[in-house]
Amino acid sequence: MKQKIAVVTGANKGIGFEICRQLAGKGFQVFLAARDLKRGTEAVGKLKASGLEVKVLQLDVSDLKSIEKAAAELASSVDHLDVLVNNAGIYEDEDASALNISPEIVEQTFRTNTLGPLLMTQRLWPLLAKSGSGRIINVSSGLGSLSEMETTAPAYSISKAALNAVTRQCAAALKDKKIAVNSISPGWVRTEMGGAGAPLTPAEGADTVIWLATEAPLSLTSQFLRERKPIPW
Ligand SMILES: NC(=O)c1ccc[n+]([C@@H]2O[C@H](COP(=O)([O-])OP(=O)(O)OC[C@H]3O[C@@H](n4cnc5c(N)ncnc54)[C@H](OP(=O)(O)O)[C@@H]3O)[C@@H](O)[C@H]2O)c1
Repeated sequence: MKQKIAVVTGANKGIGFEICRQLAGKGFQVFLAARDLKRGTEAVGKLKASGLEVKVLQLDVSDLKSIEKAAAELASSVDHLDVLVNNAGIYEDEDASALNISPEIVEQTFRTNTLGPLLMTQRLWPLLAKSGSGRIINVSSGLGSLSEMETTAPAYSISKAALNAVTRQCAAALKDKKIAVNSISPGWVRTEMGGAGAPLTPAEGADTVIWLATEAPLSLTSQFLRERKPIPW
């Protein structure tokens, strides 16, 4: 059997790092993508110290040139891709209001949380199509759920709702290529973003991603999931 190959963005720490750790532990060839090569290399070193071999990939998801360079690097080193986890994200507007949030914060948040995953999908779907059972997993948030949305973190929440729309569009566009595309909410997780008071460990936050990457049926697509189950958009 061919070795499965995965790319995880924003993976030098937090939930992305944990996803790399678990996928590598399950035998995947993992590309740990990080915008800062030094931080990425240090993360790869931590995994190596625990006996796991992963490769670093420099990638700033808010920069089209960086995405194109990383996609070219991947295309020259692997003949297919099984899993893309669009995990990189920023949360810069916790105390802001939709009534006065700065356009700069909205733009940067969209560029990272929404446009980045869309462009990654555009550049990598041809490699994923060669898998025969490709998976794209967009790490969204409960704050992006329209049915629950109130005033919290407007730029972040709107960017994640739009990321969910990216999921729906790409799932439909890629259905005949045998690529499943889903959004997940990890829950509130103890990372730099989630803070020390969050109830879930990174391993608990990563669980639905790992399940979608390894066990879920390919027919499960175009969904928003938490704890392995669909939740309202
Ligand atoms: N933690 C939670 O409670 C929670 C809840 C719901 C959803 N999420 C989502 O889960 C995902 C991971 O979050 P986390 O909690 O693990 O956060 P984190 O610890 O802050 O990690 C975020 C990661 O994204 C990277 N990143 C940010 N901007 C990037 C860019 N332009 N290009 C490439 N990488 C970039 C960061 O890199 P640097 O180290 O270089 O900054 C870091 O590796 C995010 O999409 C987040 O929105 C988290």
